[in-house]
Amino acid sequence: MNVFKYNTQTSCLCGRGCIEAYGDIFLKYGKRAAILTSKFAEGCRNYALEDVRAALDRRGIEYIVINRVIENPPVESVAELSRECVEFGAQFFVAIGGGSSIDSAKAVSLLMKHPGVEPYETFYGLGHPSDSLKTEADLPVFAVPTTAGTGAEVTGFACLTRSDTDTKLSMYPLVFCEAAFLDPEYIRHSPAFLLHSGAMDALAHGVETYLHTGSNIINRSLAEVGFKLFAGYKDALLENTLKDDDFLNMQIAAFIMGMAFMQSSTTIPHGMGYPLSHYKRVNHGLACAVFLGEYLRSFKDRTLVEPIVSACGFSDVDSFAQYIAAIMAQDLRLQVTEAELDKWTEDFMKLDFRLASSPEPLSAADIKGIYLRSLAPYMVK
Ligand SMILES: [Fe+2]
Repeated sequence: MNVFKYNTQTSCLCGRGCIEAYGDIFLKYGKRAAILTSKFAEGCRNYALEDVRAALDRRGIEYIVINRVIENPPVESVAELSRECVEFGAQFFVAIGGGSSIDSAKAVSLLMKHPGVEPYETFYGLGHPSDSLKTEADLPVFAVPTTAGTGAEVTGFACLTRSDTDTKLSMYPLVFCEAAFLDPEYIRHSPAFLLHSGAMDALAHGVETYLHTGSNIINRSLAEVGFKLFAGYKDALLENTLKDDDFLNMQIAAFIMGMAFMQSSTTIPHGMGYPLSHYKRVNHGLACAVFLGEYLRSFKDRTLVEPIVSACGFSDVDSFAQYIAAIMAQDLRLQVTEAELDKWTEDFMKLDFRLASSPEPLSAADIKGIYLRSLAPYMVK
């Protein structure tokens, strides 16, 4: 039997009002907190920030609110946030928002452990990803997700934008959040587009980790729980008729899929989605999930993928693929040419670690075919 590990660190506190209900936990971590978040769109209330402020006020914990988190946070912006947190004397962090806020807080916490060290050295200096089991930052991070998709609240990863290489890359040391507060109120008011893209990202995490050659019984079992939750809300998600329980189940599914994929990582669709995000600015969840249906359809041995589509509540792979296409038809705006697909296929075929992660071998023609069939509605001359 091959060796494998399963590692998790983050407590999960769930339900409407969970921040106040479990707010005394903050008292164990100090009297000064830095809240990291981003500016919400005009007309959108940051309900989570209101609840966190109230919980800290009630307990006499001082805090600063830094609302300058940038999407796909650059190393330089994280370093700037870190200086402000040091000046304030933060003892712990509360990250409110999507993956960018949570990843920024993880990165700031890591920088504060290594004062005087150049940020790129702190994030990437070891030259290889860490295989540590424990969080590698000192100051605790609490996550309050306002999207349900990335799983950043439970994984040890923090994806940053490197200006030196013009790429996005997870920092090598792992930083796990102390706890995540999952309150359905924080996603209930989200536009359908955000709910769809989050759910698609979480689904892709589950599907990909389930199929990954490095997966194990624990990953796959967790992903199966996430698939069953997805089966419960998928129709309401498509029809935009989500109910109270659905919102919490979406948050729990994102958390569970995060637990599932953080060991064996993602595989083909996430790799194929990179150029859509990078060159076409397509939202991450849609950019990856648009390939899910055709990726599963490409399997010669359908017994590998049937447990997934069945657990997700579909009768067969074709129904699963049609559902993905229907979500994309609502949300994905894109134009691509065949020449771009040729280039992206060529680039993808250089990613040996991606190709090795798929249980069936994939040729350049296979990858090009998945690109072509998935993006057929978006092709232009
Ligand atoms: Fe993802």
